[in-house]
Amino acid sequence: MNYEEVLRLGLERGFFMPSCEIYSDAPGGFWDYGPLGLNLRNRFIELWRRELVRKDGMIEIDGAQIMPKSVFIASGHLESFADPIISCKNCNTILRADKFITEKIGKYIPERLSNEEFDKLIQSYGLRCPNCNGEFSKTKRFNMMFKVGIGPAEDEAYLRPETCQTIFTNFPRLFKIMRGKLPLGFAQFGKSFRNEISPRQSLIRLREFYQAEIEVFFNPKKANEFEKFNLIKDYSLRIFKDGKIEKVTCQEALDKQLTPNKLITYYLALIQKFYDKTGIDMERSRFRTLAEYERAFYAQVAYDFEVETSLGWIELVACNYRTDYDMSGHGKVSGKDVRVMDNGEKIIPHIFELSMGVDRSIYCILEHNLKRDGERLLLSLKPYLAPIQVSIFPLVNRDSLPEKARSIYLMLRDDFDVFYDESGSIGRRYRRMDEIGTPINITIDYQTLKDDTITIRDRDSMKQFRVSIANLKETLRQIIYKYD
Ligand code: ATP
Ligand code: GLY
Repeated sequence: MNYEEVLRLGLERGFFMPSCEIYSDAPGGFWDYGPLGLNLRNRFIELWRRELVRKDGMIEIDGAQIMPKSVFIASGHLESFADPIISCKNCNTILRADKFITEKIGKYIPERLSNEEFDKLIQSYGLRCPNCNGEFSKTKRFNMMFKVGIGPAEDEAYLRPETCQTIFTNFPRLFKIMRGKLPLGFAQFGKSFRNEISPRQSLIRLREFYQAEIEVFFNPKKANEFEKFNLIKDYSLRIFKDGKIEKVTCQEALDKQLTPNKLITYYLALIQKFYDKTGIDMERSRFRTLAEYERAFYAQVAYDFEVETSLGWIELVACNYRTDYDMSGHGKVSGKDVRVMDNGEKIIPHIFELSMGVDRSIYCILEHNLKRDGERLLLSLKPYLAPIQVSIFPLVNRDSLPEKARSIYLMLRDDFDVFYDESGSIGRRYRRMDEIGTPINITIDYQTLKDDTITIRDRDSMKQFRVSIANLKETLRQIIYKYD
């Protein structure tokens, strides 16, 4: 399915919608989750906890969203987290220089060029404002962090542009109290804020968005002494380099130097395994190896985990080897000792990060699972991600079938997300649930009144089978929480 169909479903069935949409001055880049989207997102995060955080023994925290200026001096964001912009001298249209030039000349122009280099390109290609043909001003840098003032003195602070900085600033205390031992992963799910110049495509480019980030702290001398690597060495990765996807085992990736060490290879495998469980089509995914000019200012090695959609390839996870860049910066600016003991030696740990965009992931799950199946629109979500897990319908709206159906609804609603509906034809009720991905439809019919059994209809195959009410909860658990 394409972007327009996903958007239609999102808006009409309440997965997500523009924030403050009844106001004409509502800015772009802010979207709200409705009940179905919220359930889907919560389940996605539970899966992330299950497959990455808990499975790998990580520590999860939840940090503040506003942080003082010094944090961003240390992290480099105050100086370097800025996009190149040009504005039209005539109509004041503001554009991102690198994206605009790339589009116009049909050749990739990296964001890392200097302002002067952008000006030269604009001049040599004779580029002018797409709205009014006006001349552009000189290129400037626009810092994407939202500035806030704390208290009456309005002390300078910022909304965090990435969740991980609270992990870095908490690391010394947490490592001590958890009696940590390197390597050790920290995780955080929460909001990040970026004053994007051109927010667009609903959940894809937002100004306020969710990240689920993992920061693995390790001793760089021991990145190849990493026993967990043996668990995944034969697992196949999809690495995109020099224009093609190579399917290689983790061991081959290492041998061919497509990945730098065992620890990084292991975590790339974990991310790919996780996305495989979300129902995103892995045949349309890849790890793109970033060239030096594409990497964030703090990254020495970087891969983007990307997924192909109707909008093209979309980056879902930035996998960055941040070295000791962040911890050294925080040590210097705060004046605190951020080193930890590892094998009798005091070191500043290095960091490998898996920075996941949650909203974009939700979008891709919806697009890859929404299909036309004959007459019906089918959202074939993994049952453990479905926002509504079970629907309950009396076959007809009479002869005490509704009362019986409601008693089953009451029996199930504490344990499952259940939806009860007694209006309209049974076929139409099924269709409405298929469209939002409900994996199990329960129907109460005349036989139920005789022998206390109900019909379960499987969403994807539309096959039906009978189950006794006494075994119902257990049967539902087995269907919904089947992870393999
Ligand atoms: P892009 O190149 O698309 O702007 P980025 O390289 O700036 O993304 P990162 O800084 O690497 O993104 O952020 C890590 C992850 O956070 C991204 O892979 C993406 O999934 C998510 N993300 C970043 N910016 C946004 C945004 N504006 N809206 C939604 N998700 C975002
Ligand atoms: N933490 C990495 C990023 O948000 O880009």
